[in-house]
Amino acid sequence: MFLSRVLVVGSLVAGLTLSGCKQSMDQSKIMSPGITVSEFGVLPDGRAVSLFTVQSASGMEMRVTNYGGIIVSLTAPDRNGVQEDIVLGFDNLEAYLASSPYFGAIIGRYGNRIGKAQFDLDGATYTLAANNGENHLHGGIAGFDKVLWDAAPFTSGEDLGLVFSYTSPDGEEGYPGTLTAKVTYLLTSDSRLSFTYEATTDKATPVNLTQHSYFNLAGPSSDSILDHELMIPADHFTPIDAGFIPTGLIQSVEGTPMDFRTPISIGSRIQAEDQQIANGLGYDHNFVLTDSSSSLKLAARVLDRKSGRIMEVTTNEPGIQFYAGNFLDGTLIGKGGHVYPYRSGFCLETQHFPDSPNQPTFPSTILRPGDVYATQTVYSFSTDAE
Ligand code: BGC
Repeated sequence: MFLSRVLVVGSLVAGLTLSGCKQSMDQSKIMSPGITVSEFGVLPDGRAVSLFTVQSASGMEMRVTNYGGIIVSLTAPDRNGVQEDIVLGFDNLEAYLASSPYFGAIIGRYGNRIGKAQFDLDGATYTLAANNGENHLHGGIAGFDKVLWDAAPFTSGEDLGLVFSYTSPDGEEGYPGTLTAKVTYLLTSDSRLSFTYEATTDKATPVNLTQHSYFNLAGPSSDSILDHELMIPADHFTPIDAGFIPTGLIQSVEGTPMDFRTPISIGSRIQAEDQQIANGLGYDHNFVLTDSSSSLKLAARVLDRKSGRIMEVTTNEPGIQFYAGNFLDGTLIGKGGHVYPYRSGFCLETQHFPDSPNQPTFPSTILRPGDVYATQTVYSFSTDAE
């Protein structure tokens, strides 16, 4: 029973290896850098869910489950080297199943909204699950955040990772085609967390995969992200209507609260009298990255001056959603009994633009048979002491 509960994975290429280290019934202990797997719980249909603990050579630790690919915790050092958890989440599977605002999860098939939960493609109209008023959000009622992924841990030199695989059946949540998706998480020895998204399909379908971790770089006892300083190298953003759907315009950030080209605290203009701030209930907008090249480029940089922690986001996606946790309202009780108040976590979701299947002027999100969807995003962690 003990061995079936806890495994330690060394070099996965060679398969799972059992650890010889000291472990208790309820807790796994890691004696050397590696990946530990334990049970996280059981789904209502009886399937067991795993929790992987990834311990990087740099001292960062990530706990991630194959339910939704959810990052349950992620530590990063402050300027004094103190590791603290910098993501929001829950202690157990039951809490994620009960109600989660996509904490830490893989989002798909389509990250963000599709207006009126409908789109036309190749002469046919497709109706998706409407799970956000009349609109479709983050893949529907049971998107990729709520499915059980196959997980395969691996090592690559000093870097440690997990490959998550899921086959989304034709018609799931209303989408056409069987989509085969693979998301690779890699925690590197130089404090980078990389996500590589790949997919293929047998019928044309929209695809827009992302990761929905909520960060608070000040650590688990911090109740606000408003002091964090944010920089987004975007000259334009996609304005939204009062239902959070893009108007179709690409608007300049110049002279607006959306101008993050020079670092500025998140809180400084979040109450501004501005139609876009009003429509988004704060920041909940897609920024059009000025560097439109398909190579990895800087998409955002965040600094928490209290801890000195810095997070940089690089991506080959054309956009990034900055969401300031405006729907957190103090009702969710998170890890260690910590209540998550209003704006206590932010998301930086790399992506194609929202509602692209209905917006002919936006870059296409349609994946066709024979094509391979391939994107990458990296969150890099450092401090202002370096
Ligand atoms: C969206 C928000 C939404 C939130 C759900 C974000 O990605 O931009 O509008 O409420 O996800 O937690």
